[in-house]
Amino acid sequence: MAECVAASEAAIARAGELIREGKLVAFPTETVYGLGADASDDKAVARIFEAKGRPRFNPLIVHVADAQAAEKHVVFSAEAKTLARHFWPGGLTLVLPRRAEARLSLLVSAGLDTVAIRVPAHETAQALLKAAQRPIAAPSANASGKVSPTRASHVMESLGHSDLLAMVLDGGACRLGLESTVIGFPQGIPTLLRPGAVAREEIEAVLGRRLADADADAASGEAGRASPGQLESHYAPGAPLRLDAREAGPDEVLLGFGPKAKSSMNLSASGDLTEAAANLFAMLRALDATAGGKRIAVSPIPMEGLGEAINDRLKRAAAPRG
Ligand code: TXA
Ligand code: MG
Repeated sequence: MAECVAASEAAIARAGELIREGKLVAFPTETVYGLGADASDDKAVARIFEAKGRPRFNPLIVHVADAQAAEKHVVFSAEAKTLARHFWPGGLTLVLPRRAEARLSLLVSAGLDTVAIRVPAHETAQALLKAAQRPIAAPSANASGKVSPTRASHVMESLGHSDLLAMVLDGGACRLGLESTVIGFPQGIPTLLRPGAVAREEIEAVLGRRLADADADAASGEAGRASPGQLESHYAPGAPLRLDAREAGPDEVLLGFGPKAKSSMNLSASGDLTEAAANLFAMLRALDATAGGKRIAVSPIPMEGLGEAINDRLKRAAAPRG
């Protein structure tokens, strides 16, 4: 059973030691909670896959304290530098060519010649990186394919029973509540590999050009996927979902959006997409726990700003289960 402790200075110092010993520590970031391990230690990284029950082909995001630390592991293009300057620390992950001399486990790249890297903004994540003095590989701290955790209690529900997880640092609710946006540069073209906490429009405004879409690759099957983590059914609650629902049927509970939704829960009564993103995973969990065999119907969410990432997660949560 993992120990869940408030993220005090002493707890973070101990968590840093655990990471250096090759143990797993779950910690808060501004997006979702991460299941962290020393990214330079093969065995520690392997434990992440084991604890999550994650398919091996799925590579992990490496977290570092700043862009300078990232430079040691990956090669930045001019556009990648621009994005790092604007969005780090924060909810943006860059997939960049791995340096030959990078001291990172090959397992974090899962056979690819690139590394996904991110500088988190959350003060506990930053303090942990400093305490550990290691790059930290961290997927979302949930069992593979399940809803991502935005509170320490979610991590405990999903992975708390695992002997592999040494500690959960409790830093409260995640501010953004959606995983980071993942951007890669296949053939040098900035490409949206996973919509997330930073909206496409913001990134396009900084780059001064449109982002290419990875969806075409994703449709061509697992091997050709630009972002291999984008499995069809993912982020799935136990209860089935019906999307774009105007109202709930007799066998359904409604997860609403906007002022008109007469629902058990509302992602944002004022129609604010940032608020909806922050509430999404916690409300899916709460409805799932109380649905009692009913289906979850979800109000339509506009496809702008963070709506793209919210719709992406909902579509996956509703996809046929494998
Ligand atoms: O907000 C987040 O990104 C959270 C927090 C903990 O930082 N982490 C997270 O990690 O969501 P994870 O492992 O659940 O998702 C990582 C995503 C997957 O879609 C994966 O396929 C993609 O990043 N990814 C990782 N390495 C990649 C690579 N080398 N090339 C392409 N995609 C990669
Ligand atoms: Mg995940």
